[in-house]
Amino acid sequence: MNRRYRKTVIAGNWKMNMTASETKKFAEEMKKIMPRAKWCDTLICVPSCNLSAAVKAFKDLRISVGAENVYFEEKGAYTGEISADMLKDLGVKYVICGHSERRQYFGETDQTVNRKVHAVLGAGMSPIICVGESLEQRESGITEDWITLQVKSALFGVSADRVRRCIIAYEPIWAIGTGKTATAAQAGEVCSAIRATIRALYGARVARSVTIQYGGSMNPKNARELLSQPDIDGGLIGGASLKPDQFVEIINAANQD
Ligand code: PGA
Repeated sequence: MNRRYRKTVIAGNWKMNMTASETKKFAEEMKKIMPRAKWCDTLICVPSCNLSAAVKAFKDLRISVGAENVYFEEKGAYTGEISADMLKDLGVKYVICGHSERRQYFGETDQTVNRKVHAVLGAGMSPIICVGESLEQRESGITEDWITLQVKSALFGVSADRVRRCIIAYEPIWAIGTGKTATAAQAGEVCSAIRATIRALYGARVARSVTIQYGGSMNPKNARELLSQPDIDGGLIGGASLKPDQFVEIINAANQD
């Protein structure tokens, strides 16, 4: 973390979990244990059908709400899809773009991720851009090249002014939902490489202002160590964000000096 230059952001990613009523219950639990003062921004990305409920329930907790996906077209005949303006109008502040599960199961490509990033920024929200390598890629030594390509593709055509609003989440695919975490050093190294890529594209001032998260089995036990890496400015948290006590412990880890 480096709070002098950029925000620390702790984000939950509920994936396809929680109903609207469970969202309300979660918020009630959180109210009892959420720290009053916090130095980190906190948000939770919830399924689209719960966005309104979440905006309402999390308001007093100062937890922003994020969406887990968006469609890049503005409007029209795209049955079942949701536009960036629709999300914005509900009070959504962040949108996950290119999560590895969407790349793997729903045909998301670097190109569609880039279009989504533009749509989210255009609507005045912040994209959380997910990048990450498979175990096979890590073992064959191409992690940094792969991640650099993903970052460059996602940011293609994005102005320096807008890139400051982007969050990049480094999520090694082999660490998501598996209980296997990248070591703090491994995660820190890739996050530094991501910042170097942004530096090469936009210069040092912009690069140091961008929040870079780690995601992949982050939990109350490993959060502190991961967040102590200079280029890890927060976390994108799946499993542990479904449990109020665990999520708060991670927020507390980001709140320490
Ligand atoms: P996990 O998920 O914390 O359950 O590994 C992280 C993510 O997919 O964003």
